[in-house]
Amino acid sequence: TRPVPVIAIDGPTASGKGSIASAVAEALGFDCLDSGVLYRLTAWAALRQGVALDDSAALAQLAATLPVSFAAGRIHLNGQSFDAAQLRTEAVGQAASTIAALPAVRDALFALQRSFRRAPGLVADGRDMGTVVFPDAQLKVFLTASAASRAERRYKQLISQGNPAILGDVFAELLERDARDTQRAVAALKPAADAELLDSTDLSLEQTVETVLALWRRHDVQVA
Ligand code: CDP
Ligand code: CDP
Repeated sequence: TRPVPVIAIDGPTASGKGSIASAVAEALGFDCLDSGVLYRLTAWAALRQGVALDDSAALAQLAATLPVSFAAGRIHLNGQSFDAAQLRTEAVGQAASTIAALPAVRDALFALQRSFRRAPGLVADGRDMGTVVFPDAQLKVFLTASAASRAERRYKQLISQGNPAILGDVFAELLERDARDTQRAVAALKPAADAELLDSTDLSLEQTVETVLALWRRHDVQVA
């Protein structure tokens, strides 16, 4: 029997991973895992409970025991229901990237992420889906776009969600998070050796989704 298919989509912040992953999952009838949400939830819980962002043991404990469930497109933690957008503030993003550099936190989330691999298939997006969590993913996409266009996308997204934002600040924070994510010692952001590189600077969301679906169809033809 063939292993359950996984499409791994990794890339830097605001490259479009989340939007592309959910559209591809919908088109194929696959489940979708936004792995960044798990780091964001852990960071959010730590900020709420006053756990220091360098207390590796306490943070790993928090990550390992996240009473989290996903239902009807919403995230449930401790009886509280979240919209992914509520976790999308830059303060939570920066805290998430700080704790994501800790190996103990990454280990604590490893099995949880892998448990999302169920038939008929999974589209998983993050930083290390293709390199660490699903090294045997049938398709790995490394999604990029220029820093300027990513900053502009994130800025527009924040404004459209009613969050006040300043383009210059968004750009500076994006560069800071890129640096932290690419330079950390564990699970640094980099393409897997067998990843397809996809630069979406000049592509619309629809064109990018179509490109990923075309790569998937090509893969399907090859294994059939
Ligand atoms: O998940 P990630 O941070 O990589 O990015 P996202 O939240 O999916 O996308 C950030 C914003 O860029 C969203 O508002 C997308 O609609 C937009 N976007 C775009 O305008 N064109 C693309 N090719 C990809 C994303
Ligand atoms: O949407 P955006 O790319 O801005 O962020 P995200 O995917 O929600 O991830 C937030 C932070 O969590 C990132 O800056 C990474 O440091 C971390 N993360 C990670 O280390 N590994 C993953 N698989 C996903 C997220």
